[in-house]
Parts: sequence; C-alpha cells; structure tokens
Amino acid sequence: MKKILITGALGQIGSELTARLREVYGSQNVIATDIRQPEFSNTGTGIFEILDVTNQQDMEMLVEEYQLDTLIHLAALLSAVAEAKPQLAWDVNMNGLMNAVEVARVHGLQFFCPSSIGAFGPQTPKDHTPQVTIQRPTTMYGITKISGELLSDYYFHKFGVDTRSVRFPGLISYDTLPGGGTTDYAVDIFYEALHKKTYASFIAAGTKMDMMYMPDAIDAIIQLLEADASRLHHRNAYNISAMSVAPEDIARAIQKYLPEFELTYAVDPVRQSIAESWPNSLDVSCAVNEWGFSPKYDLDRMTKDMLKKLNKKLETSVAL
Ligand SMILES: NC(=O)c1ccc[n+]([C@@H]2O[C@H](COP(=O)([O-])OP(=O)(O)OC[C@H]3O[C@@H](n4cnc5c(N)ncnc54)[C@H](O)[C@@H]3O)[C@@H](O)[C@H]2O)c1
Repeated sequence: MKKILITGALGQIGSELTARLREVYGSQNVIATDIRQPEFSNTGTGIFEILDVTNQQDMEMLVEEYQLDTLIHLAALLSAVAEAKPQLAWDVNMNGLMNAVEVARVHGLQFFCPSSIGAFGPQTPKDHTPQVTIQRPTTMYGITKISGELLSDYYFHKFGVDTRSVRFPGLISYDTLPGGGTTDYAVDIFYEALHKKTYASFIAAGTKMDMMYMPDAIDAIIQLLEADASRLHHRNAYNISAMSVAPEDIARAIQKYLPEFELTYAVDPVRQSIAESWPNSLDVSCAVNEWGFSPKYDLDRMTKDMLKKLNKKLETSVAL
C-alpha cells in the first residue's frame, strides 16, 4: 500500500490524479498539496496542505508527519508561462525539483516527476521521435525538463532513489483547465465549440503535436509506479502519446458531432515557435515493452467523451 505526497495537486493533472489515487489507495493515504488554497474540492475528499515546493523543510515535515513512501512531484510552471517568467520557472521547476528529489533520497521515497515533449528541441528528429535521441530544447521550460530527466537519472544511479518518469504530450481534459502550456488550444477548442460553435486557434494549421486524453495519462502514472523495477531501462523519462494531431484534425473530429463548428486561426508567435521546436509524433515502444503502456483513447473516442462530459459540465445542452 502506498502513502503518497502530491505537490501541485490543484493543477490540470493533480486534481484528477489525486481523486483517482484516493480511490485506488484510500483517501487517508494521499496527501494533496499546492501553493494555493483549493477553490472547490475537485480532488476528492482527503487531506490538503499548503506547500511551496521551494521550501524543502516544509516538504520534509509533511513526509515525516504523514509517514509517506511516495512523492509525486507535479508543481511546475508550464511552457508558455515559463517563457514569460524564465527566472521564476527556473526557481520553481529546478529548485523545487531538487528539494523534492532530496527529500525522496533522505526518506527513501519512490519518486515520480513528469517530463514533457518540451524536453526535445529543433534538432530532435520530428517524426517517430526515438526514446533516446538529440535533446537540445530552446525554451526555459524545456531546459528545466531535460535537466529534470538527468537529475532523476543521477539520483537513481548515484543514490538508488526509485525515480520514474514519462514525457507527457499535450494533455486534454474536461475537469481542470490547463495551466498555460503550448497544447492548451486542444482543450480550449472543445469549450468554444460548445459555447460559440467557432474557435480561433493560436497554433497554426498543419502543426502536428502529440496529445493524450487525461484518463490515459492517469492510468500511465499508476501503471509506471506499480511496474516491476527490473524491467525499467529508460526510467527518466519514457516517451508516451496516444495521437499526433494538428488543429484541423481535432476540428474535423468535432465536426462529426457538431457539423456547424468552424475553425479559424489567430496564431500566437510565441506558442507557435515553441510548438515548431517540438516533435510531430513520438515512438512509444520502450514504454509499451518495459511496462505495458497502452492508451485507450484515440482522437475520435476522446472527442466523443470530451463533448459529452463538457456538454454536461457547461450545461450547454447541445444536441450531439
Ligand atoms: N498538462 C500537460 O499537458 C503537461 C504535459 C507535459 C508535462 N506536464 C508536466 O506535468 C506536471 C503538472 O502539470 P499540470 O498540467 O498539472 O500543471 P498546472 O499548471 O495545471 O498545475 C501546476 C500546479 O503547481 C502549482 N504550483 C506552482 N508553483 C508552485 C510552488 N512553488 N509550490 C507548490 N505548487 C506550485 C500551481 O498552483 C498549480 O496548481 C508539470 O511538471 C508539467 O511540466 C504537463
């Protein structure tokens, strides 16, 4: 039985992951933390504590107080926010990570901190991007993500900390809004499709990026944390993805259910240039072979579920 501390638990991933982990391991065994107070309880019922990850002592106190054995470190600034505030992004993403992995070392915790497709760069092969390849990211977010992969590997080899990670693609979800990433358009498009039947994409036509539906992302985290350690050869971090899509692909999938939906473009040069530095599609074979990664949602299945769930959440009552 795991006893888990989650940092950044109120974010897009953390809110759904916390609720799910509480179902799997029991409410009392999952301690949710974030730098801010929850506005409403979307993490399920259970313990919540304020924690700024730049404060190692506070993190350590929580691990001792609740006798924890696993640390899921999600607190970070995402790609677009990190580009606007690079110094703060370094502080939260790097110093926060160093604190977290140190706490894991001192207390013998299993450790998970997600990397991202942002850990790749313009020199990375774009299609079928291999697990091990050139990584020269050009964004502050990417620099912190590749450094996180290396630091996690270092702590595994040097100190034997059980570090595990995935390179998440853009994550699409209906529960909590994304926190300022380059793939956020792929969530916005569903909200606007239901509200206005039209959406102006800040990412240009033809820009393919990897994506995944949140239920598959949550399953992947739990599956990797439970995986047989002896089979993990690429611990930090596994390529994972469920689809490679451009804005017009998502629009076409939405139009199957909402034929009147229209996609236009209002391209944001900052996020477009970040997107162009990332791969088009990842090779996920190492995750499949080493711990059985197997996403359930393709673009069509995800689109149907997103529209159904959001229609209910937004009370838009669109006939689908
Ligand atoms: N969502 C995605 O599409 C995606 C894709 C790839 C990787 N990731 C990675 O997954 C992790 C979680 O991402 P997310 O989408 O849930 O992010 P998010 O922006 O939605 O949530 C991050 C949370 O961290 C909190 N936070 C910020 N500064 C903090 C601090 N100093 N101390 C404690 N908490 C702090 C925020 O309040 C927020 O609730 C990040 O490492 C991110 O890089 C996410």
